[in-house]
Amino acid sequence: MYQDHRASVLPPGRPKVERAPLRAESHTKWATVGYAAATQPVLSAPLHAIAPLRVGMLGLGTVGIGTYNVMQRNAEVIEARTGRPIEIVMIAVRNLQRAARLVDDGVVLVDDPFAVVNHPAIDVVVEVMGGTALARDLVLQAIANGKHVVTANKALLAEHGTEIFAAAQAQGVVVAYEGAVAVSIPIIKALREGLTANRIEWIAGIINGTTNYILSEMKDKGVSFANALADAQTKGYAEADPTFDVEGVDAAHKLTLLASNAFGVPVQFDKVHVEGITQLDSVDIAFAERLGYCVKLLGIAKRNTQGLELRVHPTLVASSHLLAQVHGSMNAVMVKSDAAGVTMYYGAGAGSEQTASAVIADLVDLARSTGTVHRQRVPSLAFQHNAIVALPVAAIDDVQTAYYLRLDVSRLSRTMPSVLNHLSDAQVRVYQLDVLDHPTDPDLNAMVVLTEPTQLRLLRQAIEALEQLPCIIGFVKTIRMESLR
Ligand SMILES: NC(=O)c1ccc[n+]([C@@H]2O[C@H](COP(=O)([O-])OP(=O)(O)OC[C@H]3O[C@@H](n4cnc5c(N)ncnc54)[C@H](OP(=O)(O)O)[C@@H]3O)[C@@H](O)[C@H]2O)c1
Repeated sequence: MYQDHRASVLPPGRPKVERAPLRAESHTKWATVGYAAATQPVLSAPLHAIAPLRVGMLGLGTVGIGTYNVMQRNAEVIEARTGRPIEIVMIAVRNLQRAARLVDDGVVLVDDPFAVVNHPAIDVVVEVMGGTALARDLVLQAIANGKHVVTANKALLAEHGTEIFAAAQAQGVVVAYEGAVAVSIPIIKALREGLTANRIEWIAGIINGTTNYILSEMKDKGVSFANALADAQTKGYAEADPTFDVEGVDAAHKLTLLASNAFGVPVQFDKVHVEGITQLDSVDIAFAERLGYCVKLLGIAKRNTQGLELRVHPTLVASSHLLAQVHGSMNAVMVKSDAAGVTMYYGAGAGSEQTASAVIADLVDLARSTGTVHRQRVPSLAFQHNAIVALPVAAIDDVQTAYYLRLDVSRLSRTMPSVLNHLSDAQVRVYQLDVLDHPTDPDLNAMVVLTEPTQLRLLRQAIEALEQLPCIIGFVKTIRMESLR
């Protein structure tokens, strides 16, 4: 049984507010009014006659408090849209004192998250706690108890999604996760509902605000990666430990979920090729700009003739491309589909109320649909459970893209013919070649080559040969390019 710590954590002098106890038996009563009666003339009943959707929340941090506050502030408009009140009735946190200062007396606060997922009066568990081990156990327990789950936890779903979605399917409950992907951008809803008539060809997204902020700073101010990261940390755009963001892992978590919704494939994080931005040099960002390109960290999921490509990496896109106009910490997702064509979605990719907006949208969907049978609901991964099929995911060596190459060469050396020969020997065709002044070393030139689309395995052969040339100083820098049309 959960223990209500609330009374003991109220600050001294705070008036104690009487509130209705959170009882399990009331659940049965709602079932008559709210669920079973869905086939009865519910629409003719006054709104207030429909029982509230009772929410238990795990966590009251950045996302949790945003969810609570937006729910309070916009309760009226949310209920007008839902036709049923949504009430956050119980919250699990570690620091009860802090939480008591943030929410009304009517909310039961507990420090045991299992008290929430096991409470029989809770209809939906909102998991905004983070982490993967405990969160997995809690979400699976909530599902086993027949509760719907809304989560903003992309790491949890990317790593344990297959198990979690299968459990939810078996129990006939929903796992909703708009807040786990692009936050204020309703991209899961767009894929699952708006674009449902389409075959998706590809998705390409700027789906990590921290890295987009860093890349924007490197481009606009010419600063190094390290300086841009330090600035992002000072301004609150990057965590104290930014590894997941700058190494591309966070974007890969989100891409995994986007790909499942777009292509009807299982959640398969381990198949994503992941490269972050830590190795990027501001020299290449400046050269790219000179040549009419912009460097973005993109998550790309693409259908090819053999199966799928799933990859996160720095990418040159033309400066005139819409994705190049996404600056600072903003996110955008572009989708190419056969009927709708190219569509693009833009918005904040992080933030307290921005994520709350997505979490509450999922709650509204649930409040509207809990009276229906499970198979009539929009499926969690956009495709019916039995239609989800794994497609082969291409090894990164086999993926074809164009490349930007930068070779630092000794000035006055006659390198161009041998560079072209080595590329040609490896069947890498050159689209453009420029010899530029090196920005930091007057004894060097920078030879910048843009290639036609080629496989990495071929390019690697050429690079190995080029790096043996005495006139080539250091390593050849490579960045993939995408036209995304
Ligand atoms: N922040 C964003 O902009 C954003 C955007 C999209 C998705 N997300 C995802 O949303 C989730 C939450 O992120 P956040 O930024 O809100 O995290 P956060 O600010 O660190 O908040 C975490 C909350 O969970 C509580 N908590 C952690 N472990 C607990 C435990 N064992 N028992 C009880 N309570 C526990 C914490 O309680 P105490 O406060 O008492 O310590 C805190 O209230 C993560 O999965 C994150 O990836 C975040």
